[in-house]
Amino acid sequence: MTEETLTIRNNSTGKEADFSLLKGTIGTPVIDVSSLNKKMGLFTYDPGFMSTSSCKSSITYIDGEKGVLLYRGYPIDQLAEKCSFLEVAHLLMNGELADDAKQAEFEHEIGQHAMLHEAMRSFIDGFHYDAHPMAMMVGIVGSLSAFYHSELDMNDPEHRRISAMRMLAKMPVIAAACYRHSIGFPFVYPRSDLSYCENFLNMMFSLPSQKYIDKDNYIDPVAVKALNLLFILHADHEQNASTSTVRLASSTGANPYACIAAGIGALWGPAHGGANEAVLSMLEEIGTVDRIPEFIAKAKDKNDPFRLMGFGHRVYKNFDPRATIIRKACYEVLEGLGGSEKDPLFELALELEAYALNDEYFIEKKLYPNVDFYSGIIYKALNIPVDMFTVMFTIARTAGWVSHWLEMMAEPGQRISRPRQIYTGHDIRNI
Ligand code: SDX
Repeated sequence: MTEETLTIRNNSTGKEADFSLLKGTIGTPVIDVSSLNKKMGLFTYDPGFMSTSSCKSSITYIDGEKGVLLYRGYPIDQLAEKCSFLEVAHLLMNGELADDAKQAEFEHEIGQHAMLHEAMRSFIDGFHYDAHPMAMMVGIVGSLSAFYHSELDMNDPEHRRISAMRMLAKMPVIAAACYRHSIGFPFVYPRSDLSYCENFLNMMFSLPSQKYIDKDNYIDPVAVKALNLLFILHADHEQNASTSTVRLASSTGANPYACIAAGIGALWGPAHGGANEAVLSMLEEIGTVDRIPEFIAKAKDKNDPFRLMGFGHRVYKNFDPRATIIRKACYEVLEGLGGSEKDPLFELALELEAYALNDEYFIEKKLYPNVDFYSGIIYKALNIPVDMFTVMFTIARTAGWVSHWLEMMAEPGQRISRPRQIYTGHDIRNI
């Protein structure tokens, strides 16, 4: 098959050169500009990476125009409907859905890695009681290599696999420990007789003062189903800012715990994973339907930094398929948890969405609700505190981060990521 090329011509010098046009299985073709500097003495400039591919990956595919999201080729709505989070984690990490025996083995190993080194508890206790749990997550996950310094030979595939399993297993335990620390309640150990999501709910909400009678005491099946769904929908999303951060940090050969901690820091930003917490704060600030126009006007005002949180997306210029699934789940969860689907914040969110989707500004700029717009409604219904919302995103996205890390580290000839710049400072000068 003849290679497809594209010619770039510098009109001011007349110099031109051909560059390969690379195509993936599906999606937008890319120009391979890696030899641009060598061939034409030029760099590309693309702040925010609006038109830049940073790598090849076979994990997740997004079509922003059609609102398509595939994990290893499977549409997100089918996975959300038919799988558990750990089944999806196996798919992302290993490329295929496991058969029952393999899945049982995978989940058994996750259970084996769930315990934290006991010394970590005094580390967690060292945080001020009102530390933001995301600040704790960045610190604690970054410290994991201090506790688990065996199996850190990144050239050893088995060491890489164990590190990935450790992070997937320990993230919910660390997350729940952060919450328990913040409310002054005792740490709850993971249990091998509970599933991943049941364990998380038990570690978050069980009380030693209440005898453990049966699962339904603190582990409502509606909540377990909702958590599995939310974790699946947040598990991966191609080269988003936090995953790109993990990949860039990993390109230096840094240990995986430090790289994932870097990803957690990036996810915390309100333009990224921090948006789910910001949506709830925004809805609480708006308060009533009659104040919606005031906030829509603020969101449209170029001189006002306020943005409608949970709206807009770099890739989805149509609906975010995850938001559609979560919106539908809100009704089921709110009703199923014995509340009413008349959660005032959910009602307000629906009104706000309807108002924005009919507003010229949002239509023209193709701004739709994203994954973060409705997720907080469900987390709130599960009694997850608002400052833990991005921690929930962290637990789920760990599956994606470790999958990209494994994919990248297995690629031969990995090179350090080191972008260039346009220098706008002083020319050389003497003191
Ligand atoms: C996630 O990348 C991923 O895949 C992320 C994610 C994942 O799963 O990893 O999907 C998770 O991070 C979802 C996004 C959560 N963030 C928010 O909900 C915060 C609010 N959204 C915006 O900050 C914004 O929409 C972004 C950050 C999501 C996208 O930013 P872009 O692609 O850089 O868009 P932009 O800033 O270029 O906006 C284009 C225009 C601008 O106006 P103009 O300069 O053209 O006049 O739309 C406007 C923006 O001002 N705009 C908004 C808006 N989002 C964009 N105006 C008001 N409210 C908004 N929310």
